[in-house]
Amino acid sequence: MLPAILGGPPLCDDQRWPKWPQWDDTERSLLSEALEHGGWWTGDGDACERFANEFAQFHTARFGAAVTNGTHTMEAALFACGVGEGDEVIIPGLTFVATAGAVLAANAIPVIVDVDPASLCIDLVAVEAAITPRTRAVIAVHVAGAMADVEALGALCARHNLMFIEDCAHAHGSFWAGRGAGSFGHFGSFSFQRSKLMTAGEGGALLCNDVELHAKAQSYINCGRVAGEHWYHHPNYGTNLRMTEWQGAILRAQLSRFDAQNRQRNGNAAALSDALAATSGLRGQARDLRQESQGHYCYVFHYDSDAFAGMPLATFEKCLQSEGIPLGVSYPSLNTLEMFRTSNFGPRLRSFSASADYSKLSLPASEFAAKSTVWVEHRVLLSARRDVLDIAEAAQRIQRHAGEIMRTLPL
Ligand SMILES: Cc1ncc(COP(=O)(O)O)c(C=O)c1O
Repeated sequence: MLPAILGGPPLCDDQRWPKWPQWDDTERSLLSEALEHGGWWTGDGDACERFANEFAQFHTARFGAAVTNGTHTMEAALFACGVGEGDEVIIPGLTFVATAGAVLAANAIPVIVDVDPASLCIDLVAVEAAITPRTRAVIAVHVAGAMADVEALGALCARHNLMFIEDCAHAHGSFWAGRGAGSFGHFGSFSFQRSKLMTAGEGGALLCNDVELHAKAQSYINCGRVAGEHWYHHPNYGTNLRMTEWQGAILRAQLSRFDAQNRQRNGNAAALSDALAATSGLRGQARDLRQESQGHYCYVFHYDSDAFAGMPLATFEKCLQSEGIPLGVSYPSLNTLEMFRTSNFGPRLRSFSASADYSKLSLPASEFAAKSTVWVEHRVLLSARRDVLDIAEAAQRIQRHAGEIMRTLPL
């Protein structure tokens, strides 16, 4: 069968795949409950508080805070950790810009290090090598739900007296040795933006196991207020990063079906990895054996163009899309963003411009990953197994005709 890009019938169309987001009467009923409650503000209603507690419990953390989004969660975490002007925070190169943005918002210096080429998560050796007397914290990103080595990172941070934050924006439902993502670091930060595994359009949650750190973050999120004290007593700086009750209500509904979805995604992802491994030049994103469940924000696999007649990644992606496979795209490595190449941080880091020169920074593994990984949208993992396996079939079809595609298509 000719691949669709050469005029064959596409393997599937978008109708086959579940839509995202998903909702039903649970969302309707909880939204209506929040409406009829009349306490629409998060301090008056209880949807946000209940959601934050339920979400924390699901991920085996003691405390949860409901926040506007998954960027503000990290800002609140950094504030609570005492990270500020001129401090250094080590972050990985392969992440969404928000991981760095939260550090810049604290007027701290993002120290960007490389990632492990197989798992795409922060490289521990690079973290250790980047520590200086000014380092205050490390943020690890669980890329596409594959967890960074939280045990080793926790130990390394403890050894160097550093704060450890997990950016779990991709990792709802990731579990490591029985414990949830976000429960290992001083803080675990989650996003509920529309593409995430649970969503209210926007939203964030900040998990924590330490009562004092949690209280500090809560105070920052709520205008510097302190629970139980006078309404207009603001003992410290804070801002308004409160989630709305509508989001809290929707997220409680999303959480109620999340466990079943997570199991289905994990089963389908494992089967897809096995099927892809049968095609030379393709292999799934690596994950540590101690991780028993992965909250696939995307299904990510490595692509080797040599096994496809030298076909560039962008052409391979175009071929997959023409077979009807919904794809996202890798983040560019942070050091290649114009903002970093030109140190264009607006009013941030003015006094630290010498330390914040990224123009010569090279991150080979992050840069290579951005050019050689395929990101499939997570909604496909909620399909029937045979449909998911068609992704491997599509890749094989493209490989069989790779030479012809390369001769026919303009690069
Ligand atoms: C790795 C990572 N960190 C942080 C964020 C920021 O989350 P939000 O969009 O909710 O601010 C995202 C969102 O896409 C993300 O992918």
